[in-house]
Amino acid sequence: MSEIKPVTIRSLRQMKKAGEKIVMLTAYDASFARVADEAGIDVLLVGDSLGMVIQGHTDTLAVTLDEVIYHCRAVRRGANRALVIADLPFLSYTTPEQALASAARLMKEGGAQMIKLEGGASQVETVAALSRHGVPVCAHLGLQPQSVHKLGGYLVQGRESEQAETILRDAQALESAGADLLVVECIPASLAAQLRKALQIPVIGIGAGADTDGQVLVLYDVLGLTVRPPRFARCFLTEGRDIPAALAAYARSVRDGEFPSQAEAF
Ligand code: KIV
Repeated sequence: MSEIKPVTIRSLRQMKKAGEKIVMLTAYDASFARVADEAGIDVLLVGDSLGMVIQGHTDTLAVTLDEVIYHCRAVRRGANRALVIADLPFLSYTTPEQALASAARLMKEGGAQMIKLEGGASQVETVAALSRHGVPVCAHLGLQPQSVHKLGGYLVQGRESEQAETILRDAQALESAGADLLVVECIPASLAAQLRKALQIPVIGIGAGADTDGQVLVLYDVLGLTVRPPRFARCFLTEGRDIPAALAAYARSVRDGEFPSQAEAF
């Protein structure tokens, strides 16, 4: 039997260099984490989307650090090969000190192998502090769901050139500060392609077109459980006869460059 090689920051960087797509999916419990891991998902994200898909809220703001820790622990028990990332919840990282304390809990108590936070220039100092202390960081730009009320809705970001330039500048600043991965959500496909080329770190898209280093989707969208799925999501359960086959179909479609299609991008 061949030995399983766990996914690491180094292997993700090598995948970018080799032009191999990275497949990422959210997970919230051990059983789905195991099935996703066995289906070849590279990265599992314990996203604060759990506030919506698990808890039934209309946004992610109510999610607490304790809740992310609880779900992350379960996901780590199910994951064998995949790298596990956990979200820092809304207002749990307003200063570098608070971010360090929150990240410490996610990693020590939850077993997270990387943390994710939303924000651009305002988070550069925090990312530098986390990185300096050995915390791997995934940054998140474009549509930032934790700012939904500030943004006035779940809207595509970076359509105007000024906004696109800010996203590009922020991404470069976050990379220089030590970010290891970047998720970009709901931005034009052309901007995501620019980001992929401009950055050394892998750029993972959701609603950002196919020209990225990888894709991430919310598990419940992939399984067709969302009442009004976003335009960029696809239910893969129709392609597979069961959940393991659906998750394998998602991984295959990302790796083949078949997902997302132009109709699923902006
Ligand atoms: O919380 C989450 O699931 C996320 C993804 C949408 C990237 O941040």
